[in-house]
Amino acid sequence: MEYIDLKAQQARIREDLDRRMAAVLAHGQYIMGPEVRELEEALARFTGAAHCIGCASGTNALELVLAAWGIGPGDAVFTTTLSFIATAETIARCGAQPIFIDIDPRTYNLDASRLEDAILAVRERDCSRHPLPQSALNAALTPRALVVVDLFGNPADYDALLAIANRHELLVLEDGAQALGGMYKGKMLCNCGCHAATTSFFPAKPLGCYGDGGAVFTNDAGLAELIDSLRYHGRRDARNKNDNVRLGCNGRLDTLQAAILLGKLDIFPEELALRREVAQRYERLLKQNAAHILAPCLTEGGVSNWAQYTVRLPQGVDRAAVMQRLKARGIPSAINYPRAMHQQTCMRCLGYAPDAFPHVQEACARVLSLPMHPYLSENDQQAVVDALTCACGGAA
Ligand SMILES: Cc1ncc(COP(=O)(O)O)c(C=O)c1O
Repeated sequence: MEYIDLKAQQARIREDLDRRMAAVLAHGQYIMGPEVRELEEALARFTGAAHCIGCASGTNALELVLAAWGIGPGDAVFTTTLSFIATAETIARCGAQPIFIDIDPRTYNLDASRLEDAILAVRERDCSRHPLPQSALNAALTPRALVVVDLFGNPADYDALLAIANRHELLVLEDGAQALGGMYKGKMLCNCGCHAATTSFFPAKPLGCYGDGGAVFTNDAGLAELIDSLRYHGRRDARNKNDNVRLGCNGRLDTLQAAILLGKLDIFPEELALRREVAQRYERLLKQNAAHILAPCLTEGGVSNWAQYTVRLPQGVDRAAVMQRLKARGIPSAINYPRAMHQQTCMRCLGYAPDAFPHVQEACARVLSLPMHPYLSENDQQAVVDALTCACGGAA
């Protein structure tokens, strides 16, 4: 059994991918070829965003937005502490201070009820309101931005988050690396009310290419223009690429990757529907067989793209042993994420206490992600749930 079955997907669309790749080899515009623009237009239509700018990766997409906003030293950027390291790494690398916030233990997303206290704690340099890094107590920081993650594809609580962010005039960036194809209250993720959103085309993502890739989405024409320049070494514009008017980077999406993504985008809506069926089957099977294993809980008004299907094991169960027992039956599983971002070695200098965020600590110790992809059969899912039930000390 595959954790993510990219081979089944490739077998389905191989001829189309071959044709699209051959077209790129024939025209030879490997950098910023016509497929890049075609993909950007198709993704803008898909999300409803006015602008989509392809770039080198999901990490690069975050960097580009933070750079375009001029986020840097002296700025506080609020974010969840449960995410892939890129979410906080990009904040810290531009010189700003990541201010971590605990998760809602049901949805695993940033707990909106803690955001205002975090903002006020920074303003007042008061760590009795919210855990702060030492540097936020030493120097005055300006609350500038909020980076929101839709973890595992489950939308964040945007109504609550945006209301607070607007009140405090924060720029809001949706890190939708795991989110493309999900929805929040009728709006497509990556276009659900934030100033900008990013996504990743890492191969394992629901819409993944065969290498690295990413994109930025926004309805702000000025921001789109700036990012288009920044991803191409700060060129003035497409007609003046030798006039570098600002410091940028090489953040372009390869034409070949864009061609592959166009092929995959054709079947993406159908794959999203299949993912939803798989998730519904898991939920039913878990309810019937293993009610002590906690199925994912969606944010109110949210539709997930099911980037991951992550359950919570009962307290006291040895997760490593469960994974071993699953493996013995040929079932792969994964831990996203065993360590929260504030606990990563590279973030230790911030001086957060290891138990600063109790909900995330608990989640990191107990979550387990199960095989999830559009081509997972009901029989395989039954086998996963049987093995899981047995490994957690239940029947089957
Ligand atoms: C939430 C989140 N943000 C950012 C990234 C970075 O994306 P990339 O690997 O394309 O740089 C990832 C990738 O896993 C992610 O899950």
